[in-house]
Amino acid sequence: MNGKNLMMHGPSGNGKTVACKNLFQELQEETDGIEVLYINCWQKNTSFKIMSDMADQLGFKFTHNLKTDELFKLVKQKINKGSAVFCFDEADKIEDFDFLYMLLEEIYRKSIILITNYHQWLINLDPRIKSRLTPDTLEFKSYSMDEIDGILRERISYAFFENVWQEDAVKLIVQKAYGVSDIRAGLYLLKESALIAESSSSKRIGTDHARKAIEKLVEFTIKNSADLEDETRFILTVVKKNPSLKMGELFKLYEKEGGKSVYKTFTRKIAKLAENKFVTLERAIGGSEGNTTIVNYLSTASKKEEKKLTDF
Ligand SMILES: Nc1ncnc2c1ncn2[C@@H]1O[C@H](COP(=O)(O)OP(=O)(O)OP(=O)(O)O)[C@@H](O)[C@H]1O
Ligand SMILES: [Mg+2]
Repeated sequence: MNGKNLMMHGPSGNGKTVACKNLFQELQEETDGIEVLYINCWQKNTSFKIMSDMADQLGFKFTHNLKTDELFKLVKQKINKGSAVFCFDEADKIEDFDFLYMLLEEIYRKSIILITNYHQWLINLDPRIKSRLTPDTLEFKSYSMDEIDGILRERISYAFFENVWQEDAVKLIVQKAYGVSDIRAGLYLLKESALIAESSSSKRIGTDHARKAIEKLVEFTIKNSADLEDETRFILTVVKKNPSLKMGELFKLYEKEGGKSVYKTFTRKIAKLAENKFVTLERAIGGSEGNTTIVNYLSTASKKEEKKLTDF
């Protein structure tokens, strides 16, 4: 029998991934005959990459010469002996959906979980996939101030000796994390404040250290760049090395450094980086070539942008 499918959605840093991973761990520990496959689609964004990742997770070796449908054959044979739960995290980064169609059609006993930041994303899926998927939806709302307070204090209790943190410093960080509505920013601030306190040989972490950490928050990209697929990460390093360039100039440097994508793909990847706050885009109007876009790495972004991120 088929299990239910689920779409989890909600803003960044509010526990979607961690909830799914906890569920998977429970399934693995407490059940037999259910394969659990978690895939981060920011790195694995095509049917081919997803299939090879699944074959990998299922323990198949020497698969590097196989094509998507050959990989799927292996995956299917193994999974159809029992059942499976799939989680496709960062699902809005998926570039083609053939793999999903294959799973929906040819895997018999399964549940599929999709995680995305955008509720709207489902609406634009191919109707043939949508009608086969018909997922329940589960919205992850942003954490309240109290919830953030609880989560951060729990982390503190695991990671620090008692009385290291001054109460006002904790409050400051809780407020900041609530202000940017991202628990990940709060965790970053805990770590950064501790490093700052340590480097000034202070035994306690106070508001001065927390404030300095908050100033640095702009350097913190909301998502970890390790999550990016290789090509996008390569583009990000080119932006980082060459700040404040026009899109066209940047593309030339990218090609010089060995980049292989065409201009259109390149600009699409830059737009995704901007959407996820790795880079900023600024429209420059006029000039000899007409309107252009200036690309900047976020930590070198304009003061205005910096203010927006550090004000709450
Ligand atoms: N309820 C919680 N208790 C403890 N830690 C939490 C909780 N919720 C989130 N976290 C921690 O916050 C961080 C961000 O959570 P998570 O990665 O699940 O966010 P997300 O909703 O998947 O965000 P994104 O949409 O950006 O991927 C993780 O380090 C996670 O461990
Ligand atoms: Mg996540």
